[in-house]
Amino acid sequence: MDLDKLKTTDGLDLKAKRVIVRADLNVPVKDGNVTDATRLERLVPGLQDLAKRGARVIVISHFGRPKGGPDPQFSLKPVADKLGELLAHPVVFAGVCVGEPTERMVAALLPGQIAVLENLRFHKGEEKNDPEFAKALAKLGDIFVNDAFSAAHRAHASTEAIARLLPAYAGPLMMEEIDALVRVLEKPERPTAAVIGGAKVSSKIAVLTNLAAKVDMLIIGGAMANTFFLAEGVGIGKSLAEPDHMHTALEIMHAAKQRHCEVILPHDVVVAAKLEGGARSRVVPALETPADQMILDVGPKTIAHYAGVIGRCKTLLWNGPLGAFEVAPFGQGTFALAREAAALTTAGKLVSVAGGGDTVAALNAAGVTDRFTYVSTAGGAFLEWLEGSTLPGIAALTRAQS
Ligand code: 3PG
Ligand code: MG
Repeated sequence: MDLDKLKTTDGLDLKAKRVIVRADLNVPVKDGNVTDATRLERLVPGLQDLAKRGARVIVISHFGRPKGGPDPQFSLKPVADKLGELLAHPVVFAGVCVGEPTERMVAALLPGQIAVLENLRFHKGEEKNDPEFAKALAKLGDIFVNDAFSAAHRAHASTEAIARLLPAYAGPLMMEEIDALVRVLEKPERPTAAVIGGAKVSSKIAVLTNLAAKVDMLIIGGAMANTFFLAEGVGIGKSLAEPDHMHTALEIMHAAKQRHCEVILPHDVVVAAKLEGGARSRVVPALETPADQMILDVGPKTIAHYAGVIGRCKTLLWNGPLGAFEVAPFGQGTFALAREAAALTTAGKLVSVAGGGDTVAALNAAGVTDRFTYVSTAGGAFLEWLEGSTLPGIAALTRAQS
């Protein structure tokens, strides 16, 4: 991806222009209420900027995974209402995202008005990246802005095909996400460390392999560390692990060694007989996990060691928890290291970027999200970037006309 080719709408005259904004309104909703509005909050400044510049703004998005037809359970209406609340201005909602009535509704928007269209995935053409569906969407606007980094790993009509049909730009949130990733991975201040946690080595093979070639220190936590222990012949009792991936762990360690990247595993661990809130737990050396116990968190020596490692680094990338943080007391390792990273960041000593999957929930639980340099709103797209993959939604913007 030639990121230098990305263009923004800065300096463009947008007065009365119909601007289609691909946003990611895929937020958690329960009983018709948005339960985490982070993605919406991050979109608001960009939408307000377009409105202030006199654009007629048409927001498009997917929501959940409906089966290619209308399904009230996946309607974007409650999300549109919440977005209107955050904008302090009600948005116009179109119950179908393409077709003549929607075209008329969009044409009737006043400069500065914002519309949200119903879930793109109610149409089979969206996920098929169908050029005809993209054409129907493109008819609604004069220019296209993609502000959905978190959907950029999908080659769908609203992220890929549409960028071939209209002058296409990267939105401010898209740029923010890309800049943060470039800052930690592509042009970092060294030394750099990556904390990679989570349950499975198998879901992060490409991430670990790619990072081993990019960072100086790879700190492994979570149940995936257990597979590394197994590969080294260390007993792990009843712990969760992937014996089928012992060879993968060895390959990753080998690749890291060749690249002079140090792979760092826990020294001591917190064990219990089962994963249960308030379970009796104790700390043991990582080499001495009893046969009837399972590893559920990293121990205090490990936390101190990891803290020392990131203290010597200038740049930190974080993806995944170090233990079973959702169940007390097994979040202590994750929370303590997250607080350390936040303190170093606040002191101006560390650039810290986190994202992907459970990571944001873990940092929220640690209460440090706003003290990291940047916390991504993306799950899969963040991980695919860490894998070194081309994200089709971004690649399409680098090729687009303006
Ligand atoms: C996400 O929540 O990760 C994005 O909105 C993409 O959603 P998807 O995984 O359903 O494509
Ligand atoms: Mg996803």
